[in-house]
Amino acid sequence: MCGIVGYIGKDDGTEICLKGLKRLEYRGYDSAGMAVVDNQEIKSIKVKGRVAALEEKQKNNPLKGSLVIAHTRWATHGVPSEENAHPHFDCHKQFAIVHNGIIENYASLKRWLEEKGHKFTSQTDTEVIPHLIEDYYEGDLVATVQKVLSLVEGTYGLAIISAKEPDKMVAARCGSPLILGICDNGDYIVASDPTAVVEYTRKVVYLNDREVVVLNHGSYQIFTLDNKEVERETSEIAWDLAQIEKGGFPHFMLKEIFNQPDTVSNAMRGRIILSENRVKLGGLIDYLDSLAKSERIVFVACGTSWHAGLIAEYLFENLASLPTEVEYASEFRYKGSIVNTDTPYFVISQSGETADTLESLRKVKSAGGKVFGIVNVVGSTIARETDAGIYLHAGPEIGVASTKAFTSQVTVLSLLALYLAKARGKMSDEDMQARLNSVLALPKIIEKILKNADSIKNIAERYIKYNNFLYLGRGYNFPVALEGALKLKEISYIHAEGYPAAEMKHGPIALIDQNMPVVVVATDTEDIIYQKVMSNIEEVRARGGNIIAIATEGNEDIKNFATEVIYVPKTAGFISPIVNVIPLQLLSYYMAAARGCDIDKPRNLAKSVTVE
Ligand code: M6R
Repeated sequence: MCGIVGYIGKDDGTEICLKGLKRLEYRGYDSAGMAVVDNQEIKSIKVKGRVAALEEKQKNNPLKGSLVIAHTRWATHGVPSEENAHPHFDCHKQFAIVHNGIIENYASLKRWLEEKGHKFTSQTDTEVIPHLIEDYYEGDLVATVQKVLSLVEGTYGLAIISAKEPDKMVAARCGSPLILGICDNGDYIVASDPTAVVEYTRKVVYLNDREVVVLNHGSYQIFTLDNKEVERETSEIAWDLAQIEKGGFPHFMLKEIFNQPDTVSNAMRGRIILSENRVKLGGLIDYLDSLAKSERIVFVACGTSWHAGLIAEYLFENLASLPTEVEYASEFRYKGSIVNTDTPYFVISQSGETADTLESLRKVKSAGGKVFGIVNVVGSTIARETDAGIYLHAGPEIGVASTKAFTSQVTVLSLLALYLAKARGKMSDEDMQARLNSVLALPKIIEKILKNADSIKNIAERYIKYNNFLYLGRGYNFPVALEGALKLKEISYIHAEGYPAAEMKHGPIALIDQNMPVVVVATDTEDIIYQKVMSNIEEVRARGGNIIAIATEGNEDIKNFATEVIYVPKTAGFISPIVNVIPLQLLSYYMAAARGCDIDKPRNLAKSVTVE
């Protein structure tokens, strides 16, 4: 969480940094700040609140400088306030730092520094770093930063400037992302992710953990913490500015929901060879045989990506008869789980930077296991550290609530399940052909649902006064119920629970009354569980609950039972989550909009959870 940007170049870099912060605001937005070296002096501004407030402050009393660092914060240590906003400084404001991550041993370091007379002005963990630099500095900023970073434990993506060496910036990473953008005119921009640099350059260098990059005017060098120089190739950012702008939509989330016909197409592009009745997954090519022979698969992920993993469990077990387990990364990394080196592990992550998912990956790898990635962000840490994987090609997802990444994840996982089903001899050619055709039909089906957005908006607006919702689904659509409830919670702040429909009787039914609307996914009319879901609807109705049903077009009967019906086109059950989640995304979006919530920046959340 938190976003950092730094600029070193020929011109004033404050505007570039402010623009960069705006692009990184999805990573945190409770306070912001910026510092420059101007005339051998560090000058800074800070605000509690959004980057817009920092921009206002900058207008009134502008900083100028060709060596700039800036930060947008998601508080971990210390409340959101001006004092706790970054940059942080040493006692004499000779060193300034912006930091994303957590310094875990900060308390003991702070005690030690205070005993030596250092005066702290914030409650943050970060502030120990500039004081340590002040303490150890003997005329060489790079060597001092290397020394100090070998003393700290925890995670960091950081950038440091000093009034003592006004032509240099030092940036480093360990566990939190950091990239270097190389501009054609010799300017450099460091940032937490490529969105902050793509307007100026698409040429970037991805730093690895425990690496330090030293930026001078016109040149850069990368070193390890023990000062070994590292050669690193540059990479190209594969998308452009238009993809990180709202493109006429009021929010990124709505844009991303409406992008889904394209993003689902991109997730399957080149991966379905209909003429040969097969799935092709280039990224896993060297491992597909061994994957097909495995006796068990484990998925590890967080949040929405974990919901995609749960759907994969149904897909892999139903289609490929492959026993599958799904773990929360935050639990998996700490529990005494025995890593089986014969079991393939898959980590699923939109950002490729989620701390718990990354540490789970490392846990498996250090035990000698193989880990594969289902990742969206190209070049992200998880993408780089996995043995192989499948990219989603969904383009940047900016809205904090994940939407298009989820449908792309499920699309890719459906293709993988089909591949394994065929390779394991569990699917006839005829069945395979029919299923591939249903996957190919998805973009058109999603388009059709999106055309119905206004009627979903009307329903949403009728329900904004309720404070509790229950979401029910079964089989493939149980995780969809979880995902629908998560979407509603995170952007509209309405309490919502997702449940497997039949579990309602085991407790949640006690909550049902006219104040507890129940959203039920009741498609798959030909499935044996459909009638059971209908019984659950009856049970809710008998207790005065309002029902919003997601049902298949043509199912007129359901109108006799549900208060509201949102129709979706008929589709095969195994890919129905990709279809059924779309109205639930829209429902939560329109409820949040009607309640006046800050949809792209919901309170307390950050897009990329890079701290545990
Ligand atoms: O980037 P990741 O997919 O690893 O992120 C995992 C979760 O943090 C993420 O899905 C989160 O739950 C979203 N805010 C849900 O909308």
